[in-house]
Amino acid sequence: MHREENTVTKKRALVAGATGYLGKFIVKELKRQGYWVRALSRDSRKIEPVRQYVDEVFLGEATQPETLIGLCRNIDTVFSSLGITRQKEGRTYMDVDYQGNKNILNEARAENVSKFMYISVFNADTLRHLEIVKAKERFADELKEAGLQHFIIRPNGFFSDMTEFFNMAKRGRVYLFGNGEYRANPIHGADLAKTCVERLCSTGGEFDVGGPEILTQNEIALQAFAVLDKKPKITYIPLWIRNLTLKLVRRFTSVKTYGPIEFFMTVLTMNMVAPAYGQHTIKEYFKEIIEVSNG
Ligand SMILES: NC(=O)c1ccc[n+]([C@@H]2O[C@H](COP(=O)([O-])OP(=O)(O)OC[C@H]3O[C@@H](n4cnc5c(N)ncnc54)[C@H](OP(=O)(O)O)[C@@H]3O)[C@@H](O)[C@H]2O)c1
Repeated sequence: MHREENTVTKKRALVAGATGYLGKFIVKELKRQGYWVRALSRDSRKIEPVRQYVDEVFLGEATQPETLIGLCRNIDTVFSSLGITRQKEGRTYMDVDYQGNKNILNEARAENVSKFMYISVFNADTLRHLEIVKAKERFADELKEAGLQHFIIRPNGFFSDMTEFFNMAKRGRVYLFGNGEYRANPIHGADLAKTCVERLCSTGGEFDVGGPEILTQNEIALQAFAVLDKKPKITYIPLWIRNLTLKLVRRFTSVKTYGPIEFFMTVLTMNMVAPAYGQHTIKEYFKEIIEVSNG
């Protein structure tokens, strides 16, 4: 009897992007906060790392709407961090970040889902000329008009991307653009997930989110060297090289190649400081990488 009551009253969430860096933290946080969780995955093996926090796995490919029928049945909250970051499958941002999410939104509307949270990127207004941001914000615009309670989160860079600084330091030299003094406050997936799930109790809206520490790229590099106990070696790449590279990749490669390059080369050559949330520091994150690799 007691169990039946719980099942009826429990909030039910669908997570799209559940196999990704942020999605895994979201699944754990939703579970921690008492949600029943369904996860969309393209491959049952990929969900294994968080399988214990998932009540139901739904196998589907977001770009193929016929595989999504029933995805949002009996769900009241949809969370989506679905998008292309490192996947190299020949799809464009418009195919996945826009249309894939649109297909999920269509399912959500058909099933009368009440809340939809979507992850875009910080500084989207300024960066809308970039292919990835164009696709994400096109979806965000449509979500706002879709008639359900919307939550659009625009986070700063994730700690997962800071791994690149660590890897360069491990190889002995970090390469930075300009003089390395661009500032940002990246955020750990666990901190972002907590902020996102807490926000679901609000009335909705659009939210910029960054991590607790504002650091220059020089400082991030120095922390990586310090944690590795290595002598810092930094090479500064002049901005004209970055500008020329951007021009060349845009001219001679397709959007599938230049999309990620233009995004990273742009956000790494500007200040990116968002409202601060969370507690995890970059130094702890770099230490964690070493601990994990040491088993
Ligand atoms: N990384 C950053 O610094 C950063 C900063 C701000 C915003 N964001 C945005 O936040 C979102 C999440 O980032 P993340 O680092 O967690 O990304 P991630 O680790 O690459 O995860 C992306 C998720 O989307 C899924 N996906 C991709 N294409 C799909 C398709 N065709 N059908 C079904 N699922 C598909 C992936 O599934 P598979 O595992 O099957 O590939 C994965 O679960 C992204 O949209 C990203 O643009 C990222």
